[in-house]
Amino acid sequence: MNSHPLVEHWLTIARNKETTSYNFRKAIKLLCRFLAYRASETLFLKERVIDTLLQENVSCGYLGCNVVLVPILRAGLAMMDEFLDILPKAEVNLIGMERVDDVNSIVKFYYQKTHISLQDKTVIILDPMIATATSLIEAIKALTNNDSKIQQIIVSSVLMSDAAKQRLLALDMDLKVYTCACDTKLNENNFIVPGLGDAGDRYFNT
Ligand code: PRP
Repeated sequence: MNSHPLVEHWLTIARNKETTSYNFRKAIKLLCRFLAYRASETLFLKERVIDTLLQENVSCGYLGCNVVLVPILRAGLAMMDEFLDILPKAEVNLIGMERVDDVNSIVKFYYQKTHISLQDKTVIILDPMIATATSLIEAIKALTNNDSKIQQIIVSSVLMSDAAKQRLLALDMDLKVYTCACDTKLNENNFIVPGLGDAGDRYFNT
């Protein structure tokens, strides 16, 4: 995403270790407001002809695609409300997944409530942190393994690593990824550095 002073500002609040869980939630919410607008810029429109108060038969656009939001539990829940606010007709599917071995980047699924077929739907995956991208790639596999023809897959995250970016580019998939910032490093535990810590823990105050 292009840099924006307000994105920088709220990202600084989220990064700061002195920020309380309450203010961290506020910062994530405001960052997601920007992300939601940007991540929806490629949604398909249909034409609708309406009458305004001053003219009849005006050709206008309205959202013509079925949007499915897929927050990756648990931290992805932090992003859901802002997206639902501007996409009130979106459905929500859930994938529950956690990193069980940080060093070796191993993840475990613990919940999946998704459509059997996502054919012709626009899927927006929500996860605030993309570190190694293993969680995201496994989520995409789970969503596409019934070889349904998803209309488009959009990914929205608050922060990602350069390594994740390279890994996603190497997938050679038509994936649209929106993030507030890309950090250069992963530490020995595959946490994004400088990062903002564990987004789930900070958001849920655990
Ligand atoms: C975090 C984050 C991503 C994942 C990123 O979740 O929200 O889902 O790790 O790491 P990766 O790109 O290396 O796979 P975590 O497993 O900590 O679970 P949580 O959301 O329950 O906190």
